[in-house]
Amino acid sequence: MFDERLWTGLLLIVAVVGLSAVPARAQEPGPLAEPKSRNQVGFPAELYSWVIPADNPQTPEKIALGKELFFDDRLSEDGKISCDHCHVPNKGFTDQLPTSMGIHNQFGQRNAPTILNALFSTTQFWDGRAATLEDQAKQPILNPVEMGMKSPDEVVGKIKGIPEYNEKFRKVFGREVNYDDIARAIASYERTQIAFDSPFDRYMAGDRRAISDSAIRGWSIFNGKGRCMSCHGWNPTQPLFTDFKFHNIGVSAHKSDFVPLARKALAILAQGASPEQIDKLAIQTDMSGLGRFLVTKQPHDIGGFRTMGLRNLLVTQPYFHDGSQQTLWDTIDHYNKGGVQNPYLDGGIVPLGLSEAEEDDLVAFLASLTSPEYEQMAKEEYDLQFKRSRTDRPQRDTEAAMGLKGRNGPGLGGPFGDIGPGQSEMGENPALLGGD
Ligand code: HEC
Ligand code: HEC
Repeated sequence: MFDERLWTGLLLIVAVVGLSAVPARAQEPGPLAEPKSRNQVGFPAELYSWVIPADNPQTPEKIALGKELFFDDRLSEDGKISCDHCHVPNKGFTDQLPTSMGIHNQFGQRNAPTILNALFSTTQFWDGRAATLEDQAKQPILNPVEMGMKSPDEVVGKIKGIPEYNEKFRKVFGREVNYDDIARAIASYERTQIAFDSPFDRYMAGDRRAISDSAIRGWSIFNGKGRCMSCHGWNPTQPLFTDFKFHNIGVSAHKSDFVPLARKALAILAQGASPEQIDKLAIQTDMSGLGRFLVTKQPHDIGGFRTMGLRNLLVTQPYFHDGSQQTLWDTIDHYNKGGVQNPYLDGGIVPLGLSEAEEDDLVAFLASLTSPEYEQMAKEEYDLQFKRSRTDRPQRDTEAAMGLKGRNGPGLGGPFGDIGPGQSEMGENPALLGGD
């Protein structure tokens, strides 16, 4: 007779057999990982033709190979971490963590940016230390807290040990597996991750009802009083909301003592500034907050980070290079008060005098930059952030935003005039120069 214990036993056997049939991957890539159509409203066709490198043309076979590699845990030392561990398609190709966690549960110092539209970026990483997607892909595989492989040879050896890969590499590249081709295939897959077609794109294409009145007001604040446009520019041929330049907007000024850190970094870089060395400083040390300085060693680049694009922000939270801001309201509060004062702060960062209602409009505009495949997720995140913003505004500093309290020293005065401490007062009390 089938009694309960027998049933439980049977179910257990079924479960165990089922489990062992599951491949090494914890989850399948899913529909959001598929290469995207270029037939999207707002897609910059001309720019696209420029960004595909002549020595790495897109082919369906190469893209498929790159996709396999992107989702393959075997590219890591412990066989558990693939690119999509930190760039999850269902999370807008980010991990939605403040900073990323790689092998053996080790945390890095930086927030994982999205892969969406990364093909259009003129440099890769928050500090632009990689010139191309190909250069970029080689670094996380070898970084000790990300994927932890010891050398390109070790990676190639591992991939060569998998017969299917050998065959595919020979078919796609006509030669043996090598590290450059691994990076080429991955980059080709990444170049299929295109995200436009948002309500804003449809609005700009002439559908005046594609976005709300609040978002339309937000777009005008973005271009005017909010001064966002000066760095996050948009135009029909370059619709990415970034100048691809580097600015210190005061994000790491919260916690970095820039001068001693810069000295420490220079001492290390003097012994050799290889890409691997810079990668380690950026991902694994307190020198991470120096940003672009690690690449150029120029004082004006201290604390400078790349202007990020602004599409699909409601699936790529939290924000900034260190993931320090939880909501879009928090990021705007940061700008509204004039950032966090520090000697290297970009001149474009000044108190903005935005009211609560104007900030709500700006967020409505940013929300209109969501691509259709993320619409539902973004709506849920918007609701969460909205609710939170009604009670919890850690970065809101109305007095500073309205220019009633000095964050800027003389000569750096914001549009509202400045009644802050004078230079000599700041000399006596350096805390006045600090952030929060
Ligand atoms: C452990 C988490 C982790 C893994 C694994 C990982 N990344 Fe990243 N990725 C990050 C972080 C963090 C950054 C930002 C680092 C920085 O800017 O210094 C980043 C940056 C990037 C960027 C630059 C995007 C931009 O806008 O600048 C690309 C592209 C990228 N990763 C692709 C990959 C690929 C391809 C792989 C696999 C070969 C991979 N990542 C593996 C965490 C990860
Ligand atoms: C002086 C140039 C500059 C101006 C002006 C500017 N930004 Fe930024 N923005 C940046 C830079 C640089 C970053 C990355 C900074 C970092 O993480 O250290 C950034 C990051 C962001 C992010 C986070 C993106 C992410 O993926 O984490 C948002 C959101 C944002 N900006 C919105 C705005 C809005 C809204 C305005 C106008 C109120 C604005 N920005 C004005 C340069 C600027």
